[in-house]
Amino acid sequence: MHKEFLWGSATASYQCEGAWNEDGRVESMWDRYLHEHHLENGDIASDFYHHYKEDIKLMKAGGQNAYRFSLSWPRIISDREGTINPLGIDFYNRVIDCCLENGITPFVTIYHWDLPQYWQETGGWLDHNVCEAYDHYAKVCFDNFGDRVNYWATFNEPKWCLVNGYLIGNYPPGEHDVQHTMNAAYNMMFASALAVRTFRQGNYQGKIGIVHSYTPVDGVDDTIQTQIAVRNADNYSNNWVLDTAALGEFPMDLVTRLSQDYDISLMKPEELKIIKDNTVDFLGLNYYARSLVKPYTHGETQLQFNNTGKPGSTKIVLKDWFEQVMDPKSEFTEWDTEIYPRGLYDGLKKAYAKYDLPIYVTENGVGVREDVSVPKVHDDWRISYMNDHINAIMNAVDDGCDIRGYFAWSTMDLYSWKNGVEKRYGLVAVDFDHHLERRPKASYDWFKKVADSNGDAIKRQAY
Ligand code: FCB
Repeated sequence: MHKEFLWGSATASYQCEGAWNEDGRVESMWDRYLHEHHLENGDIASDFYHHYKEDIKLMKAGGQNAYRFSLSWPRIISDREGTINPLGIDFYNRVIDCCLENGITPFVTIYHWDLPQYWQETGGWLDHNVCEAYDHYAKVCFDNFGDRVNYWATFNEPKWCLVNGYLIGNYPPGEHDVQHTMNAAYNMMFASALAVRTFRQGNYQGKIGIVHSYTPVDGVDDTIQTQIAVRNADNYSNNWVLDTAALGEFPMDLVTRLSQDYDISLMKPEELKIIKDNTVDFLGLNYYARSLVKPYTHGETQLQFNNTGKPGSTKIVLKDWFEQVMDPKSEFTEWDTEIYPRGLYDGLKKAYAKYDLPIYVTENGVGVREDVSVPKVHDDWRISYMNDHINAIMNAVDDGCDIRGYFAWSTMDLYSWKNGVEKRYGLVAVDFDHHLERRPKASYDWFKKVADSNGDAIKRQAY
């Protein structure tokens, strides 16, 4: 791999920090939603807020040279007026400095879903004012951390948080409304462009990109009907984020289709110009699974995005678009996610050919139930999963794709949204019942060999 390849791991503020009401951090939409619904929450999570030194040292000892983490808006900005919380700034200064002292490159996500509740009060991502507020928050981040950070991502996975929040209703704010999904999606993509503009205008060092939950789409056959279903699924799953961030335009066939049933008056020409003029420098792609589709047959479009473990148990009204199917030949995780490394290779090739931008694989990993009361978790399944996905990346690199980093999800076990702490992804086990003790798993040792050898330790298989 390239000699400056980033071999790292990733977390998100709400999922690992804990300290939810310490040092001036205000409530986020997730705090309110989980507390109100009496659901497992991230109040403590992995308590990274108090364990960050130990965790960053472990990254270094594990051969990692980069750490992808997110900043918490409710920790940094205290109210709708944009007041800065100096203690929030201090915390991230300490985290960034600690990374640098340990030879770890910080790769910073500005927003990973923890919207301050004070913005949710007026509609969250449906309130157009949130775009400007986000832009202000992003500027505060650039001003305070920009001297030491070279990699910025405006958003983590607009699709995943908005589709779950506004269409499926599984995440806060728990809605089931296509029009609202569209409006929130437009606002988030506009906010991303505003932050890119601010970044460019301020002449900060480094590069800025966006992180997308990438779901490469395959069709069950080559009929023209299936190709239409593939295009619809690709628009739904990928293009509205990637085309908009990288090419500066929403896919016109998607907009045309939506305009037949929904109101698109939010899309103002002067804002579309800002989107056009402020595209990203790189793409961060998170890969967990592809989507296999066939033409729509009847009823409501069924998707696998449900986080319940049962594919198709969530119904979404996108009439006539496509239908998602499961490949009977594939292997699936306990949560019914297809294990399909080849999809990463195919997806990287498609994305690189289409957007011609450097790519970082910003998340990849597997969530399983694990007994962590043992001295060492032997997560051989995770090792073979990661091996096969890194092999897919190396095959894409061999074919000429410009891929510059790989981040395992996740650095340590953490709070996994609606799945709580039961679904573990970490390279390091966290004993949530026992003082949050950290114990590296076998995958952590294995990943060290991979990073130390710059990929040579991967068992290769050509496609
Ligand atoms: C992604 C999210 C991340 C994590 C992984 C498993 O969709 O970006 O926060 O929960 O899934």
